[in-house]
Amino acid sequence: MLKPLRKAVLPVAGLGTRFLPATKATAKEMLPVVDRPLIQYAVDEARAAGIEQFCFITGRGKTAIVEHFDVAYELERTLEMRGKARELAELRAQQQEPGSIMTVRQQVPLGLGHAIWCARSFIADEPFAILLPDDLMQCDISCTAQLAAAYRETGGNVVAVEEVPMERVNKYGVIDIEKDMGRLVSVKGLVEKPPIEEAPSNLTIIGRYVLMPEVITHLAKMEKGAGGEIQLTDGMAKLIGHQPFHGVRYEGRRFDCGDKIGFLEAQIAFALKRPEMAAQVREFLKTYS
Ligand code: G1P
Repeated sequence: MLKPLRKAVLPVAGLGTRFLPATKATAKEMLPVVDRPLIQYAVDEARAAGIEQFCFITGRGKTAIVEHFDVAYELERTLEMRGKARELAELRAQQQEPGSIMTVRQQVPLGLGHAIWCARSFIADEPFAILLPDDLMQCDISCTAQLAAAYRETGGNVVAVEEVPMERVNKYGVIDIEKDMGRLVSVKGLVEKPPIEEAPSNLTIIGRYVLMPEVITHLAKMEKGAGGEIQLTDGMAKLIGHQPFHGVRYEGRRFDCGDKIGFLEAQIAFALKRPEMAAQVREFLKTYS
């Protein structure tokens, strides 16, 4: 029987150099889109997929992330005294169950594959989701929930994929397609950040995965790949042929919030989805065209 998907790993150790000086004293995952930090969107998305346990792979200077998910007793008390019921309810709704979040420090930035390997005790022998909080998803059905459904359907590894213009494939993990079935694509190979002329397709991996725990065995070999880093993509590639491996053309939109333009676009797109501000945002946008 298929093991239920209950765990998620969220790598948050990156320095966020592209957002300096904003990220000098705070984590890039704490940058807000409208009124909630990026990390909150990722956690909410995972919870909507039935995830119960979270492991943040952190590093120095990332304590704000941990604080964000703690009970802010003084704040709650002050809101209570001031009769701010709506704000209080909002804070409490986001409260995670005690013991559901753990953190592991990556210590040295050796790559995404290494970050995931750091979560090996947390993962143990269960399937797990990975969410890269820089990739902000706007989907009617949580992107991780779409992957969870595909995991139950295929019984193996699934990664969210999308087509990008060929000239940008060198920024992503790229799929070598075995069979294209539309929403699902069976995978015969994976390459991390290939030179454009060597890319097997323009179907790229975005920062959402559901993987089987065996990937850890491959990551443990600490083999360096693209950019001299231990790449998750290389570890995943070793699973192909031994376990089912599929790409899922998810329904929704992705915003690359690791990039300033993507981050700005996300602000607008998420504000336009908020009934209390959409009309005003549309109005002021007109003044810029
Ligand atoms: C990482 C992965 C890459 C994936 C990308 C999605 O790269 O290594 O395979 O396509 O995330 O955002 P990074 O953006 O961290 O360089």
